[in-house]
Amino acid sequence: MTELFAGTDREIEAAARLLAAGELVAFGTETVYGLGADATNAAAVAAIFAAKGRPHFNPLICHYASAEAAFADVAANEAARKAAAAFWPGPLTLVLPRRANCKVALLAGAGLETLAVRVPAHPLAAKLLRALGRPVAAPSANRSGQISPTRAAHVLAGLGGRIAAVVDSGPCQVGVESTVLDLSGETPRLLRPGGVAVEALEAVIGPVQAGVPIEQDVAGRQLRSPGMLVSHYAPRLPVRLRAEKVAADEALLAFGPPLSGAGLVFQLSESGNPAEAAAKLFEGLHWLDAQAPALGLRRIAAMAVPETGLGRAINDRLKRAAAPRGE
Ligand code: TXA
Ligand code: MG
Repeated sequence: MTELFAGTDREIEAAARLLAAGELVAFGTETVYGLGADATNAAAVAAIFAAKGRPHFNPLICHYASAEAAFADVAANEAARKAAAAFWPGPLTLVLPRRANCKVALLAGAGLETLAVRVPAHPLAAKLLRALGRPVAAPSANRSGQISPTRAAHVLAGLGGRIAAVVDSGPCQVGVESTVLDLSGETPRLLRPGGVAVEALEAVIGPVQAGVPIEQDVAGRQLRSPGMLVSHYAPRLPVRLRAEKVAADEALLAFGPPLSGAGLVFQLSESGNPAEAAAKLFEGLHWLDAQAPALGLRRIAAMAVPETGLGRAINDRLKRAAAPRGE
């Protein structure tokens, strides 16, 4: 049985006690729901991989209540301090060298010398982290390779019965995962586009090296950011990108005025606003996946989204959803 908690103080304390006891608790953040475990407890961290059915021990993001707490476990440099001041709490993850006295279990970082850290903005996530008083390792709370959850119901559909509890924190406001920025090397590198636009980052810390294009992902980026498998965020239905027409057997993921002729449409943003579209993206994929089969529809046609602002994160997720299914 998976308990469903609302966000009262008592329930947050109960959730923190479960985490402290080594149990898995999913909780909402501003980006997506995370599947949390006490990051200092290696057995609890291992249970995350088992519950998700992750094929490998990919490094996880550790969530902290404050930048001070995060920078006690990793060594911040000037760029990290600037980025933290500008974007924390918020949808930005920083990859930095572990300190020698880092409390986080090595497994959470998949044995790497670096650790990904973030301070989430959602008030219930912040409350939970303060109540526990330890970092929480949390990947997105979905079975490996499937669509990330942006509502408690999505988490229960995928992981119900496999985890101790879910804190219902409402629908996620940002809707795509955090931007992952590697600050452990000479120059800042974008490992995953996400909830903080690259343009906004560059305005604060200067030039950010582009991530490796998705086509080279398997060979290249997987080594630096092993969680970025090519086929990911995948709905059950195949996805076709940059659709300009809709076929008879396709459902439509619309951005702006919808293409004509579609029998089933999920609108990401009527006005063509990438931030609004990001917030609805995973919800749209979940919804089309659930509705399409009964209507005899066998594919999702996704309209083009511009590669600016949060559009970059949307296109990254859509490309992965459309990629050949490897695992
Ligand atoms: O918004 C988010 O970031 C959500 C919420 C729950 O906070 N979490 C999330 O975690 O998306 P996950 O595990 O699905 O993605 C973590 C990403 C992966 O691409 C992983 O490879 C990368 O961060 N990562 C983690 N540690 C790393 C490290 N030391 N070096 C490079 N990449 C790392
Ligand atoms: Mg994920």
